[in-house]
Amino acid sequence: DWTMGAYREEAIAKIREQVGSERVICGLSGGVDSAVAAVLIHEAIGSQLTCVFVDHGLLRQGEAEEVVRLFRDHYNIPLVHVEAQEMFLSALEGVSDPEVKRKTIGRLFIDVFEAESKKIGGAAFLAQGTLYPDVIESVSFTGGPSVTIKSHHNVGGLPERMNMKLVEPLRELFKDEVRVLGRELGLPEGFVGRHPFPGPGLAIRCPGTITSEKLDALRKADAIYLDEIRRAGLYDTIWQAFAVILPVKTVGVMGDGRTYDHVCALRAVTSVDGMTADFYPFDMAFLSRVATRIINEVKGINRVTYDITSKPPGTIEWE
Ligand code: XMP
Repeated sequence: DWTMGAYREEAIAKIREQVGSERVICGLSGGVDSAVAAVLIHEAIGSQLTCVFVDHGLLRQGEAEEVVRLFRDHYNIPLVHVEAQEMFLSALEGVSDPEVKRKTIGRLFIDVFEAESKKIGGAAFLAQGTLYPDVIESVSFTGGPSVTIKSHHNVGGLPERMNMKLVEPLRELFKDEVRVLGRELGLPEGFVGRHPFPGPGLAIRCPGTITSEKLDALRKADAIYLDEIRRAGLYDTIWQAFAVILPVKTVGVMGDGRTYDHVCALRAVTSVDGMTADFYPFDMAFLSRVATRIINEVKGINRVTYDITSKPPGTIEWE
């Protein structure tokens, strides 16, 4: 793509100018944005960059392996893989407020980045894959008064005491443009086409308090749902699809026994930039197949519902 080729060159020049000879840490989330930011920055400053992938215990099934494979094997970019599950999950214990979840996670991310920065003799910059819609939505809601809808951790949620300055080379781009840039930078198609995944991860798909039992059930349900979406050939048509585990138990019957387990809600939307979205109109046979598999295969879930709310008035994530 001609325009993106020019953008790439310009962005690389800007990064070099901003960073000089300092070191940069780039936090990878497993999503497209941070991966594109990392590859772009690596082109600009090479070994001045250290990529850090934090496993906060809130990732989807198989996600950590995929990211490590992409960076180490495909790009040969050095990557620090931090196992911080224990640290995040204990800090989140008993927390149910969505904004407190985001702030807690944002603060711990910074702690991890600062610790990694020390190990390499001090990084002056923290790089993030912040996009234009992240900037807008953390500041005000489209057309409305200036209120924060959600403090996306990679914008508004950063603690003020952070020592590092930010490098955000994608701040002017929308998601579809980031994908074009990703292709331009040689990211594998399977990675470029991935659905967005929020930095706070499964924490905001687990309304109420977070427990490892709920996370385990959620991971399994989510993997089944995405597997069926791929099999049906719908993955690329849908902007984002995921499961949510509700903090509510309901009564069911299985074989000749009574069950009392969690409800799983399924979400799928189409969108261009994530700022507005429509729920995806699956056919009933598809939904029924997914529900049957989840209830049969996932311990701890006995009821499945489908979310038919568009954005607005709903948001894409439940928290
Ligand atoms: P909402 O739920 O606000 O989501 O309609 C719009 C898009 O943003 C993602 N999202 C987040 N991404 N940190 C992130 O990095 C966050 O705290 C966060 N909250 C929502 C969401 O997945 C969707 O793609």
